[in-house]
Amino acid sequence: MSDKKKVIFSGMQPSGHVTLGNYLGALKNWTDLQEDYNCLFCVVDMHSITVRQDPPTLRRLSREFLMQYIAAGINPEENIMYYQSHVPEHAELAWILNCFTYMGELNRMTQFKDKSQRHAENINAGLFTYPALMAADILLYQTDLVPVGDDQKQHLELARDIAIRFNNAYSPTFKVPEGYFGKAGARVMSLQEPNKKMSKSDEDENAFVSILDSPDVIARKFKRAVTDSDNEIRFSEDKPGISNLLNIYSAITGKSIEESEKDFDGKGYGDFKMAVAEVVIDELRPLQDRYKELEKDKAYIDGIIKENAQTASYLANKTLSKVQRKVGFPPKIR
Ligand code: TRP
Repeated sequence: MSDKKKVIFSGMQPSGHVTLGNYLGALKNWTDLQEDYNCLFCVVDMHSITVRQDPPTLRRLSREFLMQYIAAGINPEENIMYYQSHVPEHAELAWILNCFTYMGELNRMTQFKDKSQRHAENINAGLFTYPALMAADILLYQTDLVPVGDDQKQHLELARDIAIRFNNAYSPTFKVPEGYFGKAGARVMSLQEPNKKMSKSDEDENAFVSILDSPDVIARKFKRAVTDSDNEIRFSEDKPGISNLLNIYSAITGKSIEESEKDFDGKGYGDFKMAVAEVVIDELRPLQDRYKELEKDKAYIDGIIKENAQTASYLANKTLSKVQRKVGFPPKIR
């Protein structure tokens, strides 16, 4: 990593597949970022086990996640893509930061309240201290910028507070990170409840499109997309279903919303949905072809996983060793 470029850290949970929403909202734009920033893309499998996972599935999805990012154009030789569990510095710093995080702060996290309601049978300590691990992820790499959705803003704010607290208690140690709200990607909504963001963990499979869905499946999901009954292809707040489809169409074709509306002047919803499905299928085809190639090349992916974890660990240690010294751990004898 060159020293002059700013550092971007992004963590993603390997639950399900990357969706069209992740792709149009973030990934497609990130391929531009890799030249201007030093980017780390971390598959946060340690965060995932705060709720029960099926072990073989978690293993499979973690690998598939990395391959989908590479297939989408993120270059694993320019960016650091790795599994959180392969870089033990995350856990080590998380422990220390736990000791600089207050119960009161963690108690205020809306995601914790949310998840402990949804997983009432398993409200574990890891779920509670999850934000301290997330702070460790970010602060280990002297991160400048963190791309986060609304649901993660509170966690990022806490990471900043922890960094400032630690810096004040000792001496400047951590860069205080900011949110990254770059070139706004498209905000893609659920195909079934278009007032809700498209989510890979939606129970209704028809609500989201995965970037690995086959053309048939994509066509079927768009055919079933919820619209309205006035048969007018127009972008409007009171027409969330149609507006969402126009957004998707415009994000892929690069046409403005007005131009997109014109493309469908006088057309019915059925034709419109199929046209949107078609541009999505065409957009994803090269990505899916690359993915199939990557699947065959086990040694290449293994190499990426190994080398990137080593690089991440090397960088993480620079911060971790300072932190350990500052809190008073005795030096290692080498
Ligand atoms: N908590 C994030 C999520 O659920 C994932 C995440 C973990 C993350 N560590 C991170 C995101 C660090 C950004 C930076 O989406």
